[in-house]
Amino acid sequence: MRCVVANWKMNLATQEARAFCDDLVGRIAPGPGIEVGIAPPFTLLHLVSGLLRPKGIQVFGQNGHAEPKGAFTGEVSMPQLRDAGCSGVLLGHSERRQFFGETDAALAKKVKAAWQWDLLPLLCIGETLEQRDAGRTLEVLGQQLSILGETGPGPLWVAYEPVWAIGTGRRAEAAQVQEAHAFIRAELNRLLPTGTYQVPILYGGSVTPESFPELLGLPEVAGGLVGGASLDPRKFAELVKQAS
Ligand code: PGA
Repeated sequence: MRCVVANWKMNLATQEARAFCDDLVGRIAPGPGIEVGIAPPFTLLHLVSGLLRPKGIQVFGQNGHAEPKGAFTGEVSMPQLRDAGCSGVLLGHSERRQFFGETDAALAKKVKAAWQWDLLPLLCIGETLEQRDAGRTLEVLGQQLSILGETGPGPLWVAYEPVWAIGTGRRAEAAQVQEAHAFIRAELNRLLPTGTYQVPILYGGSVTPESFPELLGLPEVAGGLVGGASLDPRKFAELVKQAS
């Protein structure tokens, strides 16, 4: 199965989102073998899920709190994401880890909460440039994946997103992607009991229609998590077609 997910981050407002969705549904009709998702900001979830879910496109939250409700000003819970039309949630994006202090311990709770509310977690992992230069890439990925030892198995997608490749126009080299994805697959096999659901591993970080076909040709690359290029419906539709 191939997966292409748009991460809109803190971009777009109502009119732009509506125009994007109208344009996108005229360009793609996801068939069997491909899953397409959009992760809009919280304020656009209702609108986007109303327009896209009937067309077979999934909607993801960009984050979700581990508690179902309560005094957590500024947070959104997993049942609220479901209520707004989400079928999944991005967890552990590097911007959340870097700028909002998201920890592996918090992420283990969030993954379990997502399952409890029937949301598919898309767990993002990746090393910083400093960690790569220090030769610590696989150690960091292993640490970030180790939460799965605590959560146990469940429906899950993983995105390998080297922090230095996000929003920089500097995509990871094929050999770097291949090494990371092979390691992630081996770790998933080690941490999750055999015979359980096969977790798709997506690549993210400066994915464009120019670079995506090469990535899709690599073993263990099931698709992409796309930021910048996902804000243009023509480019995003092109990525979906390449993965189809
Ligand atoms: P980018 O973002 O495609 O703009 O590099 C990817 C992401 O942050 O998920």
